[in-house]
Amino acid sequence: MRVAELLNPADPAFARDPHPYYARLRARGPAARVELANGTHAWLVTGYREARAVLADPRFSNVPPRRAGRPKPDSPAERARACLARHMLNSDAPDHTRLRRLTTAAFTPRRVDALRPRIERLAAGLVAGLAAELERHGTADLVDAFAFPLPVLVIGEVLGVPEADRADLREWTYRVGSPADALAPGAVDEAWSALHAYFTALIAEKRRAPGGDLFSALVHDTDEGGLDDAELLAMAFLLLFAGYETTMNLLASAALLLLTHPGERAAALRGGPRRWAAVVEETLRHASPLEGTTWRRTTEPVDLGGGAVLPAGASVLVVLAAANRDPRHFPDPDAFRPGRQLLGGERPAPHAAFGHGPHFCPGARLARLEAAIALPLLFETFPHLTLAADPDELPYRPGLLVRGPRRVPVTPGPRGGVTGLPGRP
Ligand code: HEM
Repeated sequence: MRVAELLNPADPAFARDPHPYYARLRARGPAARVELANGTHAWLVTGYREARAVLADPRFSNVPPRRAGRPKPDSPAERARACLARHMLNSDAPDHTRLRRLTTAAFTPRRVDALRPRIERLAAGLVAGLAAELERHGTADLVDAFAFPLPVLVIGEVLGVPEADRADLREWTYRVGSPADALAPGAVDEAWSALHAYFTALIAEKRRAPGGDLFSALVHDTDEGGLDDAELLAMAFLLLFAGYETTMNLLASAALLLLTHPGERAAALRGGPRRWAAVVEETLRHASPLEGTTWRRTTEPVDLGGGAVLPAGASVLVVLAAANRDPRHFPDPDAFRPGRQLLGGERPAPHAAFGHGPHFCPGARLARLEAAIALPLLFETFPHLTLAADPDELPYRPGLLVRGPRRVPVTPGPRGGVTGLPGRP
């Protein structure tokens, strides 16, 4: 067996641009064995065809292995972690089938599309706030002022979470998704406990006074096979975490790509909804907001071809960001070229940013809708918006799960000004 490549997801240089590393792995074969900074080994799947094959193959289980060794102390953080980890992304059929059926009913095209006017209003309010901030300070952070709050407000609607609580939720979710050694000691544990306490109280509140939101419907689902309290807790966590941090990264990465590709930005502004949809799809491919799927584990030995024979019990990460830049399926894969997503263009393959197989993202339509509303509104309102930092110096979130810039500072641009603020005469 070849020597395993070292991988340190907390390294800021890797977080900013992991693609050279993934390209090196891919050149060795569709799946490579790596050694993580904590000394454990894993298989990273970086080929596009192999990524889709793994995600559709029941020999790759989503159920996390029981941790060996001494039991962890019975702290509130450990109880929270164990409880919140029982969500459907961590399950296989038949459990997964039941949990998925109960929740995806809420994400039918009709119900998602009905959120459009609400999303338009929320986005318009944020753009007005951004204009005020740019006028006051001459600069603003697109992540803080736009890319973060919009998905939080939208998922807050879906979950029925009060607006005042959303900043806390962002912070806790950010922390639990980061490697423990990238943050101050105890910060990750504190966040697990806080999320557990918050959602426990939210479920109690929904039981007492149900609202019109999806989460209230889940709490009050008394049908056979409905969710118990532990499942509800895990589901709330999953919807929050899966629903906004990914979409935040999609919006932030798309904005950054357009700010650094003026030709593509002008083409989008000229081209209308089809061109904007192509920008969204190309961002999903080029800057995949979910860098890797959740971990899989082989239930038996699997031969992926190209010399990659995975033993039973192997930890496997499907790296969507790498699969989406596989040159065998996407010519000139490192180039950001929305035109390739248009019908009649190259259209070599559908990207895998929303996954594949039984766990394919049930929120894909909602995420696309948010981006299709938010991006044209932002760039039509601020036609001269300019990046106020060196794009190569922007900090990225550490870790292998989600990927996107943590800050995108902007100014109104050399000519300044705002055109056609929504809601203003
Ligand atoms: C750009 C935004 C988004 C991206 C890139 C994304 C991507 C993904 C991917 C790749 C998976 C599969 C993960 C795996 O197989 O391990 C997934 C699952 C999931 N996503 Fe999304 N997602 C996004 C937005 C959303 C939104 C807005 C929601 C809900 C409000 C959502 C809810 C979920 C849920 C519940 C699952 C688990 C499905 C299952 O286990 O069957 N996602 N997402």
